[in-house]
Amino acid sequence: MTHSFRSSTTVSSIDPGKPHLILVGLPGAGKSTVGALLSERLQRTFLDFDAELERREGMPVSQIFGERGEAGFRLLEKGLTEELTQFGNMILSPGGGWVSDPAVVALLRPPAIMVYLRLRPEAALQRLGGSSAGRPLLNRPDPLAELKKLFELRRSAYQSADIEIGAELLTAQQVTDQIVTKLGTLPPAPIGAPPPAAA
Ligand code: S3P
Repeated sequence: MTHSFRSSTTVSSIDPGKPHLILVGLPGAGKSTVGALLSERLQRTFLDFDAELERREGMPVSQIFGERGEAGFRLLEKGLTEELTQFGNMILSPGGGWVSDPAVVALLRPPAIMVYLRLRPEAALQRLGGSSAGRPLLNRPDPLAELKKLFELRRSAYQSADIEIGAELLTAQQVTDQIVTKLGTLPPAPIGAPPPAAA
């Protein structure tokens, strides 16, 4: 099947019969780094939403926000998500606000498996170098206050993930290892499975 997604690693088949794996969490949680590592480890195609949207629009996310507002950016995210319903078996790294609209999440999940990389807003900001550069929602006088606000708004959506990893004290490699281990403990995806035989 042909597709127009940019991928940072060797592409395996984008098998529509298998669920995607979606990494969620605050900016700075390590979604892009862990996504690339997972992609190599599991030989699955990786898609970083922000990078893909920047490529398509020919401008950085901050400029998309500037020209079209957050609503315009969310529409682009939604459009990309809709496209991904045609594919499967990918590692997806949407921006931290992708979980905000349950209808968008529901486009992919179920059957997609959602993995939450958990860390406190304070740690997230530290990882971002204390700076909000390139992240329009944090480009405010008090980025920590903004991150805390976003975290409160998104907390329950993040926590609805199938797998939660306490990412704060771990390296990206350790987070990747934990995800792989926990994936092995999940029950098999029910999608496409035949109904249980009657007793
Ligand atoms: C956003 C997070 C960003 C990017 C945009 C909005 C958010 O992605 O999508 O600036 O709403 O939290 P990262 O989570 O990769 O920083």
